[in-house]
Amino acid sequence: MKAKILNILKSGRIVSGEDLSRELGISRVSIWKHIQGLKELGYDIEAGARGYQSRGTMDALYPWEFPGREDRIHFSPETSSTMDVARDMASRGCPEFTVAVAGIQKNGRGRMKREWHSLEGGLYFTLVLRPDLPMGFSHRINFLASTIMTEVLHHEFRIDARVKWPNDILVNEKKISGMLSEIVAETDMVHYINIGMGVNVNNDPTRYEPAATSMINILGKPTPRKQVLIAFLNRFESAMNNREWKNAVDRWRQHTVTLNRPVKITTTRETSEGMARDVDQDGALILELKDGSLKRIVYGDCFHA
Ligand code: BTN
Repeated sequence: MKAKILNILKSGRIVSGEDLSRELGISRVSIWKHIQGLKELGYDIEAGARGYQSRGTMDALYPWEFPGREDRIHFSPETSSTMDVARDMASRGCPEFTVAVAGIQKNGRGRMKREWHSLEGGLYFTLVLRPDLPMGFSHRINFLASTIMTEVLHHEFRIDARVKWPNDILVNEKKISGMLSEIVAETDMVHYINIGMGVNVNNDPTRYEPAATSMINILGKPTPRKQVLIAFLNRFESAMNNREWKNAVDRWRQHTVTLNRPVKITTTRETSEGMARDVDQDGALILELKDGSLKRIVYGDCFHA
């Protein structure tokens, strides 16, 4: 019912309680209660003598903002990390393509045990996947996810986004999105893979990360976060259903800014420098060292020189 009321009010015109009640087949008191509920959730709706009027679109992420996906969107205005929420849901058997999404994360996590500062305005979500695939192929899902988010930024928002090995998304070398994945498998078969993504949409990440940027910074105007999430989910779900993870690394190559340039790779144990020559089908970076030998790097942080 909330979605239906919002849909009628989204035109911005004033609608009387009587008209809403007639159109939706519920009493005026019920309409009033729903409007109060929406206002408590943060929707800016004015109740005047002539009726109700919505004052602008709110950047809301409630399930009813995702028609057709209402049952699979779990929104928390504030949570520790959507990775924790998603893991909990996945271990209790939630369906594939369930999404944990949050307004703010108090304990957002990044790769290499880093913190992911998650202020209001950013998009923070974790998607639960249950692909029928052996463990050895799981990294391809990560490559597919980061490639598709890059394509979303490119095609839907005209942002010149590129991907840095392995799964960071950059615009003019500044980070706009990061990805973290968690996998639970048994006897080599994947139970679930949780893909967590943080996208700087309407937040200013430079307070904590000077070498970062956001959509609002690039576009000069706010973007509803749900637009980014819906575009990603539409493209990614369809790609998963078509098993497009099979050629994810080749597709990733078309969008990367890491290959054929000097890079520095740090892991918890060592630092390597050289030319990034390729990424193999397992997602490992092939680095050409100064002496001409090739080194295969499976995990690490990549810095473009
Ligand atoms: C990185 O670049 O280091 C990865 C960042 C991943 C951040 C996202 S935000 C949603 C999900 N929840 C988390 O705690 N982390 C991921």
